[in-house]
Amino acid sequence: MTGGAGFIGSHFARRLFERGDEVVVLDKLTYSGNRANLEGCDVEFVHGDICDPEAVAAAGARCGAGVNFAAESHVDRSILGPAEFIRTDVLGTQVLLEWVRETGARFVQVSTDEVYGDVPRGVSSSEDDPVRPSSPYSASKAGGDLQVLAYVRTFGVNASVTRGSNTYGPNQYPEKVIPLFVTNALDGEPLPLYGDGRQVRDWMHVDDHCAGIELVLERGGPGEVYNVGGGEEVENRELTRRILELTGADGSLVRPVADRPGHDRRYAVDTRKLRELGWAPTRTLADGLPETVAWYRANRDWWEPIKSGEYRQFYERQYAERLG
Ligand code: NAD
Ligand code: TYD
Repeated sequence: MTGGAGFIGSHFARRLFERGDEVVVLDKLTYSGNRANLEGCDVEFVHGDICDPEAVAAAGARCGAGVNFAAESHVDRSILGPAEFIRTDVLGTQVLLEWVRETGARFVQVSTDEVYGDVPRGVSSSEDDPVRPSSPYSASKAGGDLQVLAYVRTFGVNASVTRGSNTYGPNQYPEKVIPLFVTNALDGEPLPLYGDGRQVRDWMHVDDHCAGIELVLERGGPGEVYNVGGGEEVENRELTRRILELTGADGSLVRPVADRPGHDRRYAVDTRKLRELGWAPTRTLADGLPETVAWYRANRDWWEPIKSGEYRQFYERQYAERLG
């Protein structure tokens, strides 16, 4: 698996390790990759880039299957600098597909519901809907997905795609809204709420996301796309209210700031196809969010070092002007 030192990938690695699988992780350790995420998880770790065919061949030498979590994954960073997104999310996926073609390995591409673009209230995206990405991030993920589907059709590789909704839980890099707002609230720092705060996301606990990917790895069909979504639609301002309540922080920390350019209003996915394979989410925000806040409260030694260094530079670029 690739990207196993990141948020979702590290939970997936632990899941496979705990069920007794032999796991090889290929990860470039970009700003969001963190060896600490794999602490106590006995996997073989290979430091390398998915865009490098030799690194992929070396890491994959004994693997019968591959799951691609490696990506540039943050919309705001893709607006500040799109090029790296195209490199990793499109070209990197194509390099992995060449490995799949040569070895005949089973392959799962971990993608996102953002490739569908935003959908009006009352509508949910199904797997056959066209991709209509809005940000350089979601466009790069859509490019990766399309390469996978083209390799299935043209070269007959055994690959599937998952499209997950917004995911939360422990070990998420504090650039994404939940860990950003939770850690800022714990430190008495402002919570920069974009635009009117009425954008809707469909939240899913990381354990449920990983269970969906695992099922697709085992039972998904070649060329098939599977949506994975928690089905819990919440407006950002309501999510913010819950975070304030759980952290005990003051409401005056919430700062409405200039919106994200091209900001998608709402995502929602129809998950019937994966449910037919036997998947269903097991966690709700009502239990998962308090547990996640408690994790960040108890694990300052995980996020405090992250919030210095490179993170500070990103934070300044992203928020200094917005926060005045
Ligand atoms: P993350 O940013 O926490 O982790 C990404 C990992 O990939 C890091 O360990 C990083 O070092 C590694 N990586 C980046 N570029 C690499 C390269 N060129 N070669 C090798 N490794 C590289 O991301 P995440 O939130 O865990 O997301 C994992 C996957 O799930 C991504 O593909 C993302 O698009 C998808 N996804 C995420 C969410 C979400 O809400 N976080 C939702 C749906 C889908
Ligand atoms: P994010 O966690 O970046 O995920 P995505 O953009 O992939 O959905 O953002 C989730 C929502 O929170 C999104 O509507 C943007 C909003 N948001 C803010 O209001 N302020 C912030 O500082 C961030 C990072 C996000």
